[in-house]
Amino acid sequence: MRRKELTIKVCEYDTVGELPEMDQKLLLAAREASKNAYAPYSKFCVGAALLLENGEVITGSNQENADFTDGLCAERVALFYANSAYPNQAVKAIAVTAQNSHGFLELPAQPCGSCRQVLVETEFRYSQPIRIILDGRNYIQVLDGADNLLPFAFKPRDLE
Ligand code: THU
Repeated sequence: MRRKELTIKVCEYDTVGELPEMDQKLLLAAREASKNAYAPYSKFCVGAALLLENGEVITGSNQENADFTDGLCAERVALFYANSAYPNQAVKAIAVTAQNSHGFLELPAQPCGSCRQVLVETEFRYSQPIRIILDGRNYIQVLDGADNLLPFAFKPRDLE
């Protein structure tokens, strides 16, 4: 038997102003994007903003459907759009925010499992980690790489 322990690294910032300038820019873009959510069923409006290698910022918001399973999360809307429109531009960072009927969430907005899996694949595709900025009114979490969000992810090597 082998007992192992994993370390997950996360930095927490109390205010947006403490973040590096580019993280601030992405977070504000994500907040703007959350206003474009189509979320008449959950009333939970999520915004995501990506920074590409060429400096472009791509945003996405969640898009719901009367057939609930046909909706898509903000993170995957943004990632799939970026990966299809800019296939040669690595994704360097993503900021995620969410608001419910009380406004922006107090705790950092956590990407769902499927979005974590797509972040892992995007890192693999461009051979580099993605900086992940999760917005909350009480504090903001910053992680350097999706391994910190999804340890033991299913990766291409698991197909072998
Ligand atoms: N949602 C996202 O956009 N991103 C996530 O990571 C979690 C959930 C959306 C999906 C659905 O439209 C709403 O939030 C409620 O689950």
